[in-house]
Formats: sequence, structure tokens, C-alpha cells
Amino acid sequence: MNIEWEPMFHLPKWSLNIKDFKKKKEQLTDLLGEYPEKPNPFGNFLTNRAACEDDGGRMLIEHFILILEEELKEIAKAVQKNVAVTSVWSASYPKNTYHPVHNHGSVGLSGIIYLDYEPKHPQTIFVCPWNNWITDETLLSPPKVEEGQLVLVPSMLLHYTEPNLLSKPKRIVGFDVKLS
Ligand SMILES: [Fe+2]
Repeated sequence: MNIEWEPMFHLPKWSLNIKDFKKKKEQLTDLLGEYPEKPNPFGNFLTNRAACEDDGGRMLIEHFILILEEELKEIAKAVQKNVAVTSVWSASYPKNTYHPVHNHGSVGLSGIIYLDYEPKHPQTIFVCPWNNWITDETLLSPPKVEEGQLVLVPSMLLHYTEPNLLSKPKRIVGFDVKLS
């Protein structure tokens, strides 16, 4: 008897190391200096996301695209779609701050760039939309990351971080992408 097996669903994750990160880190840090982060009402971390979603966000997106031109081209190639960045922001996590579980909407992709990141900083933990169908446990994916890495996942994927236990703040740049 031949029993056939195949996965019915899969969840992609793309990951790359940003080229010339030292230079691009400076450029991104300078750019984000124009968009001060404030405490987020839904958590205890700092972000400028709300401020970047009004008209001022357009300029931030345009500069972000220029800085990460090569990476965005590589992403479009890997995803095999046209990619359009729809929002950019940063978030900082001083000691004992964390990001509660959330997602970025139903469609498109969301990226995280680890801008200031120590090996002992908490990584992003992704939550599988379905349970382990044998044990009924929630499935978590905490991919190992390093400073200068860019991780891209479907926006619908829930994710969160554990509290930062280091005195040094962790800082990420987040962005959302529309596909066509
Ligand atoms: Fe997020």
C-alpha cells in the first residue's frame, strides 16, 4: 500500500544580512533621528510608529528605500513579486521592556531589521497560526538573529518579544510591504 504524504500549508521566512551594514546603520540611525520614539500605549517599549503613519512617513519611506535599495531588490527577487514599502518605523526596548503579541494585518509581508542588537538581547518569537496537532501545544519559532540581519515574514504572523534583560537598549527598524 502506498500512502502519500505532503504538507498542505507552509509559512515562509526570508532572512538576509544587510550589505555594508555599518554604513547603512549610520544612515538609518540618522534618518530615524528625525522621528523621535515615544512610549507605546499598548506596551512599555518606545516607538515612532504612529508618527510615521501620517504624511511625514512618506519621506521616511522614500529615504529608507534609497538606503536599502539593494536589499529590497533581492527581496523582490526572492519573493518573486513586486514589493512596495507601505510603512517604516523604529522601536527601542530599554531594560525590562518587551513587545506584546501582535501582527501587522492580514496580507503582505513585514520586515524587522536588527539595528542595535547584542547576542543576549531577546529575539523575535513567531507564533504558528495552528497548534501542534498531536500535542495541542502552541508552536513557537524563535529564530536566532544578529545585528545587521533583516527578517521578513507574512504580516499575518503573530509575534512578540520577551523582556530585554540587558542595560543596553535593543533597537529594531520595522517595515511593512505590499506585494503585487
Ligand atoms: Fe511587529
